[in-house]
Amino acid sequence: MTRIFSGVKPTGHLTLGNYLGAVRRWADVDQHRAEALFCIVDLHALTVDHDPGRVRRLSRQAATLLLASGLDPELCTVFVQSHVDEHARLSYLLECVATDGEMRRMIQYKEKAALERKRGGSVRLSLLTYPVLMAADILAYGTDEVPVGDDQTQHVELTRDLAVRFNQRYGHTFVVPRATRPEVAARVMNLQEPTSKMGKSDDVGPGVVYLLDEPDTVRKKIMRAVTDSGQDVAYDPEERPGVSNLLEILAACEGSDPAALSEAYTSYGALKKDTADAVVELLRPVQDRHKQLCADPSSVEGVLREGARRARAMARPTVDSAYEAIGLLAPSDG
Ligand code: TRP
Repeated sequence: MTRIFSGVKPTGHLTLGNYLGAVRRWADVDQHRAEALFCIVDLHALTVDHDPGRVRRLSRQAATLLLASGLDPELCTVFVQSHVDEHARLSYLLECVATDGEMRRMIQYKEKAALERKRGGSVRLSLLTYPVLMAADILAYGTDEVPVGDDQTQHVELTRDLAVRFNQRYGHTFVVPRATRPEVAARVMNLQEPTSKMGKSDDVGPGVVYLLDEPDTVRKKIMRAVTDSGQDVAYDPEERPGVSNLLEILAACEGSDPAALSEAYTSYGALKKDTADAVVELLRPVQDRHKQLCADPSSVEGVLREGARRARAMARPTVDSAYEAIGLLAPSDG
């Protein structure tokens, strides 16, 4: 059976963009068709300046929201990265396979490091090595497919390079994975800045709809979304990014096509109102389920405990064989 691995970094509250672009598909499609692992990648949240309490809260919240969104622990494995030692164990071995030049070429590293320096801060070494840890996340599980957004495809390419290089040098150990992009993923953009993605880390409230926003807040944010000059409603992401984003969101909620939808509207106001209603209805069951799960925190803890146990059992043999293949002496039993 195909094995899928994907990760959510607990650096911000989950957004409508995360849900429509990824999580909904994990729940509706991926967990049913493959052996799927979904990981709260908390170690990755430590690569930039962070608040320990916030990382802990966001990790618990992300796990709860994944379950509230329909990930079913009977069908897939939901767990926290730091609960499974194999990630860090394998990461070190892969650091011995990756090169310094390769790491410094990563676009995300260059961008984030530049930003950090501009702020007068220092760059953590883990920001540079982060893609190697991501490779370890993926390779430890014999993953075939990694569903990720465009911003992560370079990291998956690196993962493939490291897997191939390791296998060539030390003998076949890793499955070489590939990045997948769902054909119909909604690409949800920031409502105030429709040329950049609605990410969870940018922390600019008004353009980002969070999964736990109250209905009134959702409505306000959508009604205040920037639209484009021009009057008619047309789907043209290049020339009319604001309106196209609203059409994209509404189409994703309804399971229809944004270009076809545009025909039905003659004013921005009506489009915004319908989009706001659709998003409120989309989020309602997720929020209800989230509330129920929060009232019973031990059930979420139980899911994570069992998830980590399963993940460990899957990763352990692969990581052990990598340790042996690379030349480390196996500990003797007893
Ligand atoms: N780097 C990913 C992000 O920033 C998160 C991530 C970490 C990930 N490890 C992963 C995604 C493994 C897919 C597979 O979004």
